[in-house]
Amino acid sequence: MSSLHQARLRALFTVFMTAFSLAAQAAVPASTYVGMGSSSDAKDNVTVSVNVPSDSTDSLFYHFSAPSAQTWAAFGIGSQMKGALIFVMYASEDGSNVTVSPRLGEGHVMPQHTSSVTVDVLSGSGIVDGSFVVNAKCTGCRSWSGGSADVNSSSQDMIWALGPSGTLKSDDTSATISQHEGYNFFNLNLKEATGTGGVPSISNSTTADNSNDGSGFGGHINPGVAFHAFLMVAAFLVVFPTGYLALRVLERVWLHWGIQSFALLMVCVGSAAGIGVSIRQQLTPSLKSGHQVLGLVVLTLVLTTWTVGLVGHRIYKKTGAPAKIMKGHRVLGPSTILLGLVNCFVGFHFASNNHGMIVFGIAMLLMFIIVGSLTFFKRRQKMRKGAMNTPAAFNFREGESGNAGPPPPLYGEGGIPLQSYANTPPVYR
Ligand code: HEM
Ligand SMILES: *[C@@H]1O[C@H](CO)[C@@H](O)[C@H](O)[C@H]1NC(C)=O
Ligand SMILES: *[C@@H]1O[C@H](CO)[C@@H](O)[C@H](O)[C@H]1NC(C)=O
Ligand SMILES: *[C@@H]1O[C@H](CO)[C@@H](O)[C@H](O)[C@H]1NC(C)=O
Ligand SMILES: *[C@@H]1O[C@H](CO)[C@@H](O)[C@H](O)[C@H]1NC(C)=O
Repeated sequence: MSSLHQARLRALFTVFMTAFSLAAQAAVPASTYVGMGSSSDAKDNVTVSVNVPSDSTDSLFYHFSAPSAQTWAAFGIGSQMKGALIFVMYASEDGSNVTVSPRLGEGHVMPQHTSSVTVDVLSGSGIVDGSFVVNAKCTGCRSWSGGSADVNSSSQDMIWALGPSGTLKSDDTSATISQHEGYNFFNLNLKEATGTGGVPSISNSTTADNSNDGSGFGGHINPGVAFHAFLMVAAFLVVFPTGYLALRVLERVWLHWGIQSFALLMVCVGSAAGIGVSIRQQLTPSLKSGHQVLGLVVLTLVLTTWTVGLVGHRIYKKTGAPAKIMKGHRVLGPSTILLGLVNCFVGFHFASNNHGMIVFGIAMLLMFIIVGSLTFFKRRQKMRKGAMNTPAAFNFREGESGNAGPPPPLYGEGGIPLQSYANTPPVYR
């Protein structure tokens, strides 16, 4: 055989093998999701593509990419953190490659590394062009303690999350990661992804199956949490301030009592909903987070303020004199509302809801302006009415008509109290 012939054969073989591998690659079925990462930059997209090898019962192939400006990036099989099998990726110790850590979600706490799932990181993986890129085969990843993937499903529930910006370099699969900056939900058609095993290839012509993309970065409405938030925001932003105005502007004690009692009921039901959701859905069930602790303090304060108000008013009715404890009510009332509003803010932060935080901040400012100006005008109006009855006003009127009367006390001699907006006597009832 001539060397020319050999070279031709080798070339033919190479062409044949290339064609074969391309065909094989094209034959790797997969379900792909491309979602928006932390920004609208196309380079920031989170891509998850899964292949279900039909010749195996416990393995999966996947391709994952996400922005490496984040400390970590992850996707999970499951509808929420709790019960999900989560693959967390971060930079390796030397920063040249990626560490893949399979973890089990246990609620809204750091997922813990599991050794019952093995991940083989395959070629093409690394930190490429500002992205974590992972091509991997996992074994023991179709069912795990707490859940399983339904390979027959055309819409397997999936999640992804991105850690805060920064770098985390570690080869340790149990490395501590901090809470995500954002997360989202999506679905994969695993039934369609079943067939020849292999790492799914993502070309720029891949049609992203992100029709089930959530409402955006970190956006997802949990009905229990939404009910809790609605009641609390409505109580502290609208109902309590209205009750305040009922007393200070309308000067109706019974209306004040009724409105604040209703708000108290809202806070009780809202707190119960918050506690219930935290425990049932494992959202920090220990109730030790700042928002939860402050919430319990506010609940106690609301109950105390309401009780003090009721008792104080009873004493006033009985004795006809303002009760001393009403001073406590006057301090407790506004500070409780203020603390409640602060905790609404903290709550939006707790739920990583920045949009909610901004909208709430604006609404709160508006509320302060409305309540402040109504109270101000009421005070001014009262002072003006009061001014008509001062000796100075009498003197002025008598001087007009020329009538003689007892000489009015003079300014500066202590006869006429100088009034200002600030020292309007408080209403104790
Ligand atoms: C230190 C680690 C982590 C902590 C402390 C943590 C904490 C939390 C907290 C407090 C929430 C509730 C916030 C909200 O309602 O918006 C939450 C929700 C969520 N987290 Fe995490 N997380 C961590 C890691 C992860 C990882 C690695 C993923 C990977 C996919 C993830 C995915 C999600 C998803 C999808 C949600 C919304 C669904 C659900 O309520 O479970 N988290 N997390
Ligand atoms: C990345 O996400 C943006 C916004 O959703 C989208 O317009 C763009 O096509 C995505 N890029 C890729 C490569 O899919
Ligand atoms: C990362 O590690 C995998 C598995 O060891 C390897 O195949 C890949 O080439 C590495 N990537 C880089 C950029 O070194
Ligand atoms: C998937 O469906 C096939 C037949 O449609 C069935 O034989 C198989 O047991 C199913 N697998 C699972 C995990 O449900
Ligand atoms: C698509 O990929 C090909 C090569 O794989 C590349 O030449 C081309 O520029 C890419 N197109 C876009 C829009 O990224």
